[in-house]
Amino acid sequence: MDLPSIRQEREKWMTWKNIAPLREAIQLLPNVNATLIQGDTVTLRSDESVDIVELEKTARLMMPWRKGPFDLFGLFIDTEWKSDQKYNFLRPHFNLQGKKVADIGCNNGYYMFRFLEDSPAKVVGFDPSALFKSQFDLINHFVKSDIVYELLGVEHLPFYEEKFDVIFCLGVLYHRSDPVAMLKALYAGLESGGELYLDTFIIEGEEPYALCPSGSYSKITNVYFVPTLTALKNWCIRAGFKTFEILGSVVTTSDEQRKTNWIESQSLEDFLDPIDSSKTVEGYPAPVRGYVRLKKG
Ligand SMILES: C[S@@+](CC[C@H](N)C(=O)[O-])C[C@H]1O[C@@H](n2cnc3c(N)ncnc32)[C@H](O)[C@@H]1O
Repeated sequence: MDLPSIRQEREKWMTWKNIAPLREAIQLLPNVNATLIQGDTVTLRSDESVDIVELEKTARLMMPWRKGPFDLFGLFIDTEWKSDQKYNFLRPHFNLQGKKVADIGCNNGYYMFRFLEDSPAKVVGFDPSALFKSQFDLINHFVKSDIVYELLGVEHLPFYEEKFDVIFCLGVLYHRSDPVAMLKALYAGLESGGELYLDTFIIEGEEPYALCPSGSYSKITNVYFVPTLTALKNWCIRAGFKTFEILGSVVTTSDEQRKTNWIESQSLEDFLDPIDSSKTVEGYPAPVRGYVRLKKG
C-alpha cells in the first residue's frame, strides 16, 4: 500500500453512515475553553458553564466506553478499564519530552491525553475504530490538542509518512493473526534508536511456546496467540529488535477491569471460571499481561 491509498483509507470513515449521528452530535457541543487536569482521571474544567445533562446524552451515544476514566466538567465517565493502572505501571519507564510519539491501538486516546504531561513534540494515535475515534473527538473538542488521530491500523505503519522516537502498542498483539508481521511493522515505524513499549497477554513458562485458543480466550474471539515471554522474545528478535527488556507482568483483576454503566456487554467477572478465577471460562490460564521495552538498533 502506498501513501495515496493510505490517505484514501484515512478519509473513508467520513462517509460511514453509522457514525454520522456521532459526528453531528460532536459538532453541536458547546465551544468552551477547557483546562486539562492531569491525573488518574483525565479531567476537564472550565470557567464557562457546560450543560452536563446534554453532554452525557452525547457521550452515551458513543458507548461502550472501555478506556479511561474521564471527568468532563463533572460528568464522570466510569469506563470498563481503569487505564490509569496500565499507565502508572509504565510511567516510571519513559520520558516523552520533545519526542515524536505514536500510540498504536490508541482507542479513545486516554493514554495520549496523559502523554501531554511530558510535552512531546508530536503525538499520533492509530486505531481503525470510528467509534473510539468519536470518543476521542468528543474529548478533544474541548481539549483542542494537536494530537493526530489516524483511522489506520498497525499494518499501515511501514507506509506512514513519519517515523517515531517512541511507539506504544498496548493490548494489540494478541489480536493479530501474524504477530511477527505486526512486530516488523512496529519496527519499521521507529526512527533508528527508537523505543517500543508493548504489552500482551502471556502464559507462564520458560519454553518458547504459545497458547493458540481454539475459539475464544477469555470470551474474546479474536485472540490468536498467547506466548511465554521466551516466545515473545523470539518473535521480537525475528522482527529485527536488538534489545528485549522485560518491565514486568501484571494479573488482570476486577479492580482494573469490571462492568460499569458505561458498557452494555460483559466484563472480566463473566470471562473467568466462576469456581477457579485462575482460569478463563474456556479453561485457559487467566489473563496476565507482560510488559516489555524494545529498541531499534
Ligand atoms: C484491547 S484494546 C487496547 C487499547 C489500549 N491500547 C490499551 O492497552 O488499553 C485494542 C485496540 O486495538 C484497536 N485495533 C483493532 N485493530 C487494530 C489494528 N489493525 N491496528 C491498530 N489497532 C487496532 C482496537 O480498536 C482497540 O482500540
